[in-house]
Amino acid sequence: MRESQGSIEDLKTKRLVLRQFCSADAPRIHYLVNDKQVAYNTHYIPHPYSEGAAEEWLKEHADLVGCGRAAVFAVCQQSADESDEAPELIGTVGLAIADVDHQAEIGYWFGRDYWGNGFCTEAVVAVLGYGFDQLGLHRIFAQHISRNGASARVLEKAGFSREGLMRQHARKWGVFEDVVCYGMLCKDPRPTCDK
Ligand SMILES: CC(C)(COP(=O)(O)OP(=O)(O)OC[C@H]1O[C@@H](n2cnc3c(N)ncnc32)[C@H](O)[C@@H]1OP(=O)(O)O)[C@@H](O)C(=O)NCCC(=O)NCCS
Repeated sequence: MRESQGSIEDLKTKRLVLRQFCSADAPRIHYLVNDKQVAYNTHYIPHPYSEGAAEEWLKEHADLVGCGRAAVFAVCQQSADESDEAPELIGTVGLAIADVDHQAEIGYWFGRDYWGNGFCTEAVVAVLGYGFDQLGLHRIFAQHISRNGASARVLEKAGFSREGLMRQHARKWGVFEDVVCYGMLCKDPRPTCDK
């Protein structure tokens, strides 16, 4: 039995299971994130990803999930064999929930071997449903470094509206980068399919 980190419920899509993280996920997180291409496109992930960083990340998020300030999902690919009890962890989608204004920021990363299959969009759409329908959020927003075309495309496919650009808002590896902002309101249309 895995150690629970909070009270978020599991979500299922056509190809994915989104569940809570557990401490046993740390080595797999390290394997997936310790990739320069994954780190380069994010604001905060360092490279190399040090030993112990995954454990620290899990602990930080467990605390936030526990007090309702985050909903962080381990995204796992369902095996074609339904009897497989441990679908493989391939990435994460999370909500950082503000304590005011009924809003949250969505963020995500996936292991490079899994890019380009629609997995991130499928998981993001499921988490939007969770945020709006289960948590009762009013607005969910996202930000990406402007050169991150894949993240822009995920947000467009998931139904977000581009709301603006913050010039040189992020400093990644010594370079000031423009950051693009996206938002979605609970009343906005969401994709009906989960891919
Ligand atoms: C961003 C990320 C999560 C996307 O994951 P994914 O599972 O490949 O996403 P999807 O397959 O659902 O969609 C990716 C889309 O971007 C497109 N794409 C990929 N690279 C692109 C680029 N350089 N420019 C424009 N579009 C691009 C893909 O073709 C696909 O669109 P399509 O379905 O219309 O063909 C993944 O690339 C990743 O983990 N990157 C590193 C971490 C990161 O950037 N996190 C987000 C920080 S804001």
